[in-house]
This record gives sequence, structure tokens and C-alpha cells, in this order.
Amino acid sequence: MEKVILVSGSPRAEGNTMQILSRCAERIRALGLEAEIISLAGKNIAACTACRKCAELKKCVLPDSLNEIAEKVRAAKGFIIGSPVYYGTARGDLMNLLQRLGLVAAANGRFLSWKVGGPIAINRRGGSTATIQEMLMFYFINEMIVPGSTYWNIVFGREPGEALEDAEGVRTVERFAENVAKLILKLSAKE
Ligand SMILES: Cc1cc2nc3c(=O)[nH]c(=O)nc-3n(C[C@H](O)[C@H](O)[C@H](O)COP(=O)(O)O)c2cc1C
Repeated sequence: MEKVILVSGSPRAEGNTMQILSRCAERIRALGLEAEIISLAGKNIAACTACRKCAELKKCVLPDSLNEIAEKVRAAKGFIIGSPVYYGTARGDLMNLLQRLGLVAAANGRFLSWKVGGPIAINRRGGSTATIQEMLMFYFINEMIVPGSTYWNIVFGREPGEALEDAEGVRTVERFAENVAKLILKLSAKE
């Protein structure tokens, strides 16, 4: 079965990002695909040290969860990321993950190419469009395919539970998740 990996970049295991990604996962499963959410809560993903050893070893030498997550992304057809907005940008650990994942993928036949997905930003009030754009840079340089929705993938909320009260935001990202799933099914049918 086709699978989508969703990564929550929040340190809050049950925070808004997790709750929003859970809604996305439900929509993906409803269309017959598998969905697995990986939370970065408690994981401490280190920044790339530019050692370049991944080019030769085909994996990252830093001792955290990156290689395990990279294998899951590699095996999946879809990759969605959600981040809380921190000072107008994505959370550092999530960007650390993307930057190291990009290099590991490049060392392994560019395995991110043609994966379908995109970013979602969760914020209290401001910085979400810049955060979406920041995360999109990773998708486009890796030949990934990003479908749209009826608005940008932005949800508003501060304390856990508030994001689910943003009806338009929830509707937008659910539609986005459905578009990811439908596109994967279309691409798979032609393979
Ligand atoms: C360090 C820090 C910086 C933040 N910066 C912003 C910000 O720039 N703009 C904003 O709208 N919300 C900001 N917030 C609020 C979070 O984005 C918001 O509470 C979000 O819902 C948290 O998602 P989570 O529950 O998944 O962790 C910040 C929160 C923290 C902890």
C-alpha cells in the first residue's frame, strides 16, 4: 500500500501541530493509503556538521534519529511536514532534519525525487507564510511535487487544541492532504 510519512516538528507531543497532522493522516487513510506520523518531540535532531561523510557511507554519522526517519521517508511515496512558527521561521530541529535528509537522499540516488507532499505551518499570529516558503525550499530543490489547496497551508492557534478551532485552516490542510493522496494514487497508476 502507498504510504505517506508526516513529521511533526513541534516539541509538544500532543500540541497543535500533532493534532493538525492527525487530521491530515485521517484524510489520507480515508483515501486508502497508509499514513504514519513521526513526532520530533523529545528527539533532539542535531544540525548538519558538513562533514560530508554521508556521501561515502550513504547515511548520516550523527547519533540521533535521522537515519531511521530517512529510511521511512525513502520507503514512502509521500512526505508532509508540519512546524510551529518560532520567531517567524520553522522550528530548528525540523530544519536540521530537512537539511541532513537532503544530503542523505543526494547520496542515495536522490530518493526524494517525485515524492509528493509539502509543508504546513501552525502559528499564533504571524510568520506563517515566510515559514511555508522556508520549508518549500527543501521540496523544490529535491524534485518533489507539492500540490496546492484552497488556501496556503496555514493554521492558527496558540495553546494545544486551539488550532482545531480554526475551521478554515483545518479545511485547507485536510484538502491539501487529500490532494497529496490523490496525486500519489494517480502517479502510482501510471508507473
Ligand atoms: C519560541 C517560540 C516562538 C514563537 N514564535 C511565534 C511567531 O513568530 N509567530 C506566531 O504566530 N507564533 C509564535 N509562537 C507560537 C506557536 O507558533 C504556537 O503556539 C503554535 O500553536 C505551537 O504549536 P505546537 O502546539 O504544535 O507546538 C512561538 C512559540 C514559541 C514557543
